[in-house]
Amino acid sequence: MKTLYIGTNFKMTKGLSDSIAYTKALVSIANEINKNINLFIIPSFPFLTEIRKLTANTAINVGAQNMYFEDSGAFTGEVSPKMLEEIGIDIVELGHSERRTLFKETNYEINKKVKAALKCNLRPLICIGENKQEKDFGIAKEVLAQQLKICLNGVPRNKLNRVLIAYEPVWAIGENGTPANEEYVSFIHDFLKEELYLTLGHVGSNMPLLYGGSVNQSNFEKYINQKSVDGLFIGRAAWEINSFGTILKELNNLYKV
Ligand code: PGA
Repeated sequence: MKTLYIGTNFKMTKGLSDSIAYTKALVSIANEINKNINLFIIPSFPFLTEIRKLTANTAINVGAQNMYFEDSGAFTGEVSPKMLEEIGIDIVELGHSERRTLFKETNYEINKKVKAALKCNLRPLICIGENKQEKDFGIAKEVLAQQLKICLNGVPRNKLNRVLIAYEPVWAIGENGTPANEEYVSFIHDFLKEELYLTLGHVGSNMPLLYGGSVNQSNFEKYINQKSVDGLFIGRAAWEINSFGTILKELNNLYKV
């Protein structure tokens, strides 16, 4: 039975009371979920401390949506890995496609962030994905291999087992996204596992590889049933707790230990 990683990034959609109500409801659902399903939520920065407190004695991991790579200094508006560590954050999401496209984050910056996160005991969740044009030009594999290689460059070997990867094709994400078919997801995940093996050995191919992009109640099972899919990174379909709860309970039945 595989260990699953299932989580959601709230993006910039939930205020304080909404984040609290959601988390409280998730805490009671989490109590009924098998231990082989690792749950995580990624709220907005201002609410992390509050959400961390609410999830303190639960199996729910809490992540941040971004961070800077320096520990401290004159970097107005940025949040450091040390600060996230100080408030007990488990995961930091790095390189989401919105960070890459709207805020012009590069693979090289993401690489610095990955190394900085690991120094502070945070688990980096590195998001990679090709855009529509890259897919149409037949260079998805090359683009993804490059993203992986740069983002993971120079990461200490003994820390590689703390890295999580999310494959999220840009053309499948959000309101205007087209859900990918599961054969394509499986084909790309197999390729990514192979690439990770070739560059890093077993520790690479053992990295949890999540899938994200228009995952919802009616298609999640098709994705998670693919051998090389180790988890799901869900946006819109998880923002309403009943919808996320349904997905979690169904997964729980499918993946009973
Ligand atoms: P979506 O978002 O599930 O709403 O497509 C996924 C993501 O942005 O990670």
